[in-house]
Amino acid sequence: MLPPILQDLRIPVVASPMFIVSGPDLVIAQCKAGIVGSFPALNAREKDGEPPLLDAWLTRISEELDRHNQANPDRPAAPFAVNQIVHRSNARLERDIEICHRHKVPIWITSLGARVEVNEAAHDCGGIALHDVINNVFAKKAIEKGADGLIAVAAGAGGHAGPLSPFALVQEIRDWFDGPLLLSGAIATGRAVLAARAMGADLAYIGSPFIATAEANAPEGYKRMIVDSAAGDIVTSSLFTGVSGNYLAPSIRAAGMDPDNLESADPSAMNFGGAKAKAWSQIWGSGQGIGAVRDIVPAATRIDRLAAEYAEARAAICA
Ligand SMILES: Cc1cc2nc3c(=O)[nH]c(=O)nc-3n(C[C@H](O)[C@H](O)[C@H](O)COP(=O)(O)O)c2cc1C
Repeated sequence: MLPPILQDLRIPVVASPMFIVSGPDLVIAQCKAGIVGSFPALNAREKDGEPPLLDAWLTRISEELDRHNQANPDRPAAPFAVNQIVHRSNARLERDIEICHRHKVPIWITSLGARVEVNEAAHDCGGIALHDVINNVFAKKAIEKGADGLIAVAAGAGGHAGPLSPFALVQEIRDWFDGPLLLSGAIATGRAVLAARAMGADLAYIGSPFIATAEANAPEGYKRMIVDSAAGDIVTSSLFTGVSGNYLAPSIRAAGMDPDNLESADPSAMNFGGAKAKAWSQIWGSGQGIGAVRDIVPAATRIDRLAAEYAEARAAICA
């Protein structure tokens, strides 16, 4: 059974948070079009001495969605989510939790670490907490620590993908968990959203296709590379963040490296403090599903298409 906040989406889709790429423009467009929009708190980076940008982003998102809801009571916006990177190199975590708590963020997405106090903060302000996991062991730990739902990150996902087939991962988690379950990894069509549900997930978690949208905070060359690439162009490497992730091979080549011969890096290299992110800003992440992405369009157009494909796939299967 889904919590009420996830029950009235136009289609069963949560747009995943993407480092650098997801900001207020994309989140507002996604929510207005009827799916959950999200962004990593760390994307809101103010200059030294300035007030927290996260505060301003949350105020803007809430106000714009409220205005939309007043003007469109028949098709209200979906709720939004904020992603917290729960890792020791994230020195801002405590501050960002306080800001999200104050703004009563409705959906909290945690990655890289499950912590009781983050889930408690989400619950205390009336929100729910979803934790992303790459295997069943981490899934059990996350629920023990108080997460309400799980995001199963399977092979082929953008960012820090897992190694497991979505069939295996969803089946193992569904064996013991009947709460909200999202599936992440290379989902890029309405048909694939339906497949995720048939497999046992409640919702699809979609990232890379939203890089090729007008509202994404990504250079034009990155958006074009998403459109021009397919699964065969994605390479898996730990070099850029210290944990295994999926990247566009042409961006690695353009940075002067050979995508087929990359060194690996130790997890201790993981750093969400900023400097490392800058060093690799030309290395572009993506999941394997982008063969389905053929143009750069407004996010609402991408969501309209997903909704039409989903309805068509349902009709075809039910027939
Ligand atoms: C460029 C990029 C950046 C990402 N950054 C984050 C992040 O900051 N936090 C996070 O939890 N997940 C991040 N992810 C992973 C997504 O949350 C999600 O698991 C993934 O996009 C789903 O796979 P897909 O891209 O194939 O749809 C990122 C993914 C991409 C492609």
